[in-house]
Amino acid sequence: MDQPPRHVTPSAARLAVDARQAPAQARTLAEELGLPLCDSDARCLGYDYLLGHPPAANGALALQDTRGEAATPLWIDFVGGRMGHRRRFGGGRGQPLARAMGFKGGETPRIVDATAGLGRDAFVLANLGAEVTLLERSPVLAALLADGLARAAAEPELAPVVQRMRLIHTAAADWLRACPAEARPTVVYLDPMYPHRQKSALVKKEMRALRALVGDDADAPQLLAAALDCASRRVVVKRPKGAAPLAGPVPAAAVASKNTRYDLYPRTNPR
Ligand SMILES: C[S@@+](CC[C@H](N)C(=O)[O-])C[C@H]1O[C@@H](n2cnc3c(N)ncnc32)[C@H](O)[C@@H]1O
Repeated sequence: MDQPPRHVTPSAARLAVDARQAPAQARTLAEELGLPLCDSDARCLGYDYLLGHPPAANGALALQDTRGEAATPLWIDFVGGRMGHRRRFGGGRGQPLARAMGFKGGETPRIVDATAGLGRDAFVLANLGAEVTLLERSPVLAALLADGLARAAAEPELAPVVQRMRLIHTAAADWLRACPAEARPTVVYLDPMYPHRQKSALVKKEMRALRALVGDDADAPQLLAAALDCASRRVVVKRPKGAAPLAGPVPAAAVASKNTRYDLYPRTNPR
């Protein structure tokens, strides 16, 4: 990962780094992220979320919700689970996300995913051959992503995919306003947080953890404006089905799937 700036997203969550396992790594992480450290059951109990290496996460950096029944930690797994399945059976260049991004024939866009989150969409796009720059402003999400990418890079089958993914811990609007010429994307992709209503317990748990860490992305319209100035060919915004487009210019077209809509904003900015 590129050198992260000292950036802390607003968060109401009480979060600490758990030093009960891998204490040396925990200390480094706490220092990097400017988070408190807890090193005993009694001390760790005082926090809503713990970032660490719990045994259930098989060596991954994970976020553990300490409250209620939510026992399964959240970590980023590009190798197995849901992402492994999507890599094998996700529908290739014909899937709605790929169509929205403009993969067609032999064409492969150069993408900036300005709201990287858990990196799932970025991973799908890199798996289809795109160079993807991932921008993430939450220091905790950026740390989870860096860990997920490092573990995927150790898998011979996934190493070439991970090589196409470059993670930058930054506020995306700043990066997009600067729009470095050597990294200028053909497509900028935005998937800001939205009050989802899916019922699955897993989605609920992940969304709750994500929302607690990053809040609502109320500045998404400003991000759209910066994206429109930087993308040379298109901006794509993911929205839940039935939701209004982001405030700003009206999208020219959309690609719809079961629960999601991708709003398309064509651009003709010079490369
Ligand atoms: C809904 S999640 C994205 C999920 C992602 N598409 C995936 O497949 O995992 C939104 C993420 O965008 C990040 N984000 C929102 N606005 C941002 C900004 N202006 N700069 C950088 N990251 C931003 C949030 O911190 C959050 O992690």
